[in-house]
Amino acid sequence: MPPRNTPRLHLREMTDDDLDEMAALLGDPRVMEYYPHSKDRTEAAEWIRWSRRNYAEHGFGLWLVETRTGEFIGDCGLTWQTVNGIPHLEVGFQVKPSAQGNGFATEAALACVDHARELAVSPVLVAIIHRDNRPSQRVAEKLGMHRNPELRHKSPVHDVFSLDL
Ligand SMILES: CC(C)(COP(=O)(O)OP(=O)(O)OC[C@H]1O[C@@H](n2cnc3c(N)ncnc32)[C@H](O)[C@@H]1OP(=O)(O)O)[C@@H](O)C(=O)NCCC(=O)NCCS
Repeated sequence: MPPRNTPRLHLREMTDDDLDEMAALLGDPRVMEYYPHSKDRTEAAEWIRWSRRNYAEHGFGLWLVETRTGEFIGDCGLTWQTVNGIPHLEVGFQVKPSAQGNGFATEAALACVDHARELAVSPVLVAIIHRDNRPSQRVAEKLGMHRNPELRHKSPVHDVFSLDL
């Protein structure tokens, strides 16, 4: 089950029907600035398949985020990521450029934080963020997360933010 609706947003499972919008999101160099490279349509399809595997295996993953009136906004959700060599629960978020700066990532991610507490699968929530990605760091801070120097991701240019659940 996805997190509850927020005042402005609806989170739901991605399907293959979302490929056009997910390919536009993941193919946008502004959205992918801090990722190794923008994703092509085949890689976006794999992203959807990976999310659907996560729903099936864990009951959560990255959900598609849209407004309550159905406008595509991006994705946000919970995945297992390796930190300090072991799986940690991560909150992740991506918002299309035309919708950025409206508090949507924070609003969606807060619903995911509440959801993570209810799932009770981990005592800690992390966010792995490129050291130059200030917008993402701000979102993490607004979720109540802090940079945690004791937690390391394999990438030397990423910091790990954490929140005790
Ligand atoms: C990170 C991202 C999801 C934020 O989405 P958003 O909906 O615009 O986020 P919000 O509006 O909830 O909050 C963004 C915060 O960053 C701040 N911000 C935006 N650009 C900034 C910049 N260049 N420098 C400093 N702060 C910045 C905003 O002012 C806001 O903080 P505030 O409320 O204190 O003013 C969006 O920028 C994005 O999709 N980036 C590309 C993908 C990505 O990096 N995802 C995260 C991977 S860890």
